Amino acid sequence: MPTVDVNGVRIAYQDSGGSGTPVVFVHGFPLSAEMWDPQIEVLDDRIRSITVDLRGFGNSDAPDDRSAYSMSDFAADVKGVVDEAGVERAVLCGLSMGGYVCFEFWRRYSPSVAGLVLADTRAEADPPEAIEKRTSQQQQVAERGIDELADALTNALLSATTAGGKPDVVKRVRELMDQPAAGYIGALEAMKNRPDSSSDLTGITVPCLVIVGEEDGLTPPEMSRKIHEHIGGSRLAVIPEAGHLSNLEDPQAFNGALIDFLERF
Ligand code: MLT
Repeated sequence: MPTVDVNGVRIAYQDSGGSGTPVVFVHGFPLSAEMWDPQIEVLDDRIRSITVDLRGFGNSDAPDDRSAYSMSDFAADVKGVVDEAGVERAVLCGLSMGGYVCFEFWRRYSPSVAGLVLADTRAEADPPEAIEKRTSQQQQVAERGIDELADALTNALLSATTAGGKPDVVKRVRELMDQPAAGYIGALEAMKNRPDSSSDLTGITVPCLVIVGEEDGLTPPEMSRKIHEHIGGSRLAVIPEAGHLSNLEDPQAFNGALIDFLERF
């Protein structure tokens, strides 16, 4: 697997190669680039896809120091990969925390952005009670490891339909959450401190697709509707019976919306 050094941190990525505007996939928390397998399997024949393991996850380094994690560090990880791959402009596709990274990437590196796919995410920063919750989750992981939190998140993120009727997806999501404790603690730190992106929405001028699972309890459809209403010309796709991990819960519907959107590039 190729890697690139970003300020002393080794960032792993996969590049399918091929021509056309690449799509760079940015994973959510606490997952890795492998969460995009159901998209890559289908899209690789049609587009150049690049998946990134943010610092702390997958095959990338996981620094122990939580100050090594911020949205700007994550955006720099993605930019390091984009530059290493020789890409001038790409469509960025981020789910949840990956969406927070896309907003930061847009603020810092907008000339490199050809389009955005914002899935199951929100523009707002964390309110005080969410910051408090993340701090206790950091403590939990530091003291007892990742398992309790990973089990709880597996239950919380999926829709009732997925949890009750798709055991293979539930199992896969839990496997994907087997990530280093340092990555959990670092990403929670980055999310706690992320800026509010609400005021950036109207300035987003590239084509944008907003996707959300109808039963997303963590970033419910109203949040995606708000993003869609503020980004001129954006499209909104609501996926029935899917929860927060819509790309894994209903890959067919997610891929359909994505393929439709990518036709314009
Ligand atoms: C994610 O799916 O990336 C996280 O659940 C986002 C968050 O905790 O805000």
